[in-house]
Amino acid sequence: MSQHYQHDVLIIGSGAAGLTLALTLPDHLRIAVLSKGDLANGSTYWAQGGVAAVLDDSDTVESHVGDTLAAGGGLCREEAVRFTVEHSREAIQWLIEQGVPFTRDEEPDREDGGFEFHLTREGGHSHRRIIHAADATGAAIFNTLLERASQRDNVQLLEQRVAVDLITERKLGLASERCLGAYVLNRASGEVDTHSARFVVLATGGAAKVYLYTSNSDGACGDGIAMAWRAGCRVGNLEFNQFHPTCLYHPQAKNFLITEALRGEGALLRLPNGERFMPRFDERAELAPRDVVARAIDHEMKRLGIDCVYLDISHQPEDFIKSHFPTVYERCLGFGIDITRQAIPVVPAAHYTCGGVVIDQAGRTDVPGLYAIGETSFTGLHGANRLASNSLLECFVYARSTAADILTQLEQIELPGQLPAWDASQVTDSDEDVIIAHNWDELRRFMWDYVGIVRTNKRLQRAQHRVRLLLDEIDEFYSNYKVSRDLIELRNLAQVAELMIESAMQRHESRGLHYTLDYPGLLPEARDTILAPPTYAG
Ligand code: FAD
Ligand code: SIN
Repeated sequence: MSQHYQHDVLIIGSGAAGLTLALTLPDHLRIAVLSKGDLANGSTYWAQGGVAAVLDDSDTVESHVGDTLAAGGGLCREEAVRFTVEHSREAIQWLIEQGVPFTRDEEPDREDGGFEFHLTREGGHSHRRIIHAADATGAAIFNTLLERASQRDNVQLLEQRVAVDLITERKLGLASERCLGAYVLNRASGEVDTHSARFVVLATGGAAKVYLYTSNSDGACGDGIAMAWRAGCRVGNLEFNQFHPTCLYHPQAKNFLITEALRGEGALLRLPNGERFMPRFDERAELAPRDVVARAIDHEMKRLGIDCVYLDISHQPEDFIKSHFPTVYERCLGFGIDITRQAIPVVPAAHYTCGGVVIDQAGRTDVPGLYAIGETSFTGLHGANRLASNSLLECFVYARSTAADILTQLEQIELPGQLPAWDASQVTDSDEDVIIAHNWDELRRFMWDYVGIVRTNKRLQRAQHRVRLLLDEIDEFYSNYKVSRDLIELRNLAQVAELMIESAMQRHESRGLHYTLDYPGLLPEARDTILAPPTYAG
């Protein structure tokens, strides 16, 4: 039997964005936080490098804003950048108050203006401003916030619940547009439950799983972007997919990132013959922004026909490496690579979705009652290329502004009445799950080949043709068979892939992360790519 739940606030996603929101809202509200796998299954848990923020006295808001704008290739919205950076210190203060065990500075008066926590450096930052917990910052933040949320009686943490679609007044045939809740697959019961809520928040993370090779864990399927699109929300700048330059290249390593902080602490990129190549591409060498480094690696791999390049930190003292990068050290050692003595084989992989659901500074989407925060959203902060470690910061800052906005509306918004239950009367159990696996594989492979680091018109046209065929097949499957997590994810990935391809086709220039051989130059004016669904109310 399917269930009907009622909440004041339904938060879909239990990462940095979702948990911060749950903890920032007042404790008289009934809040549900959903995760489609276990609670740690998003990107947050895996974040390594840290959180960028203006923390020490010798750093300035202007400098962090300037670095973000420079990385963003002319496309950042300056008001979003200022808003985020100006709120960075209080966001970090809040995390420290929650108990996040950031790494302390052993010599606080040395280089960073006396700040008590160690600040590291990453590509594109002109200052040491990344606060971190060794090289496992995401796990430290996630564990702390989860523990806090578990202590709150008003917060229900619901695992293994996959949101299938949003329920809106328009979908129910009403004249108005408000979001009223979501249909959610309970993986334990196999039923699709109805969750109604006064406010619904998408905190579902990114869509890097659309690519064959990615640093992300399995859930990064763009579910929130696809659900918001189907509900009538605009999406922005989905052509900008960030490829992290250095993921471990090893047959048994799945999705393991080698943090950029290694390069921040002096690691060098080398060809198999030991030659350094980054100085040939950019005067900032290994500390150039990620798009530059990823493209340089891609170029060298194609030029020389090699499978990977090498990241070498072995010239640093062994103790330093082991204490700053314990996770990377242990993980590589597990694969037989001792990073205190050997260079690490690395390749670029899809890492971060810069575009997403269009929101304003209070997290509001185009559909009343529906918010989006974190990687699933498009705030304008990242422009054409995200500056390293700005994304966790964005999660905290926008979760907090969303909480403030929800508070201003509490008085006016009632709980929705009874909503119709999910109708499964026309569908049967699937007898051909192989179709899902096959289509999933095909999608990720052609996205990698045709919509990857270097694009052309022809490749994009091929990808568009294929994704449309897939979407037709998936739609038919979805109409006839019971939903499963795999089917829901495939449907969303294909939807988001189509939006990414369409966005890439609309950009007739090479800017930031979008590089095409057909339009290698920059257009004089930087413009966002905003797509509106047929159901967008305007
Ligand atoms: P996530 O943490 O990805 O959480 C998404 C949540 O949504 C999960 O709980 C998932 O279960 C849930 N969900 C998704 N779809 C559904 C659905 N249909 N139904 C129910 N639940 C759903 N950024 C930095 O700033 N600094 C770093 O050092 C850094 N390092 C990184 C290292 C790695 C390996 C990776 C992959 C990313 C890194 N990033 C880093 C990026 C950053 O971690 C992410 O952008 C950020 O954690 C996203 O947080 P989020 O809350 O938006 O989503
Ligand atoms: C890393 O540690 O290199 C990831 C940082 C980020 O994605 O911001």
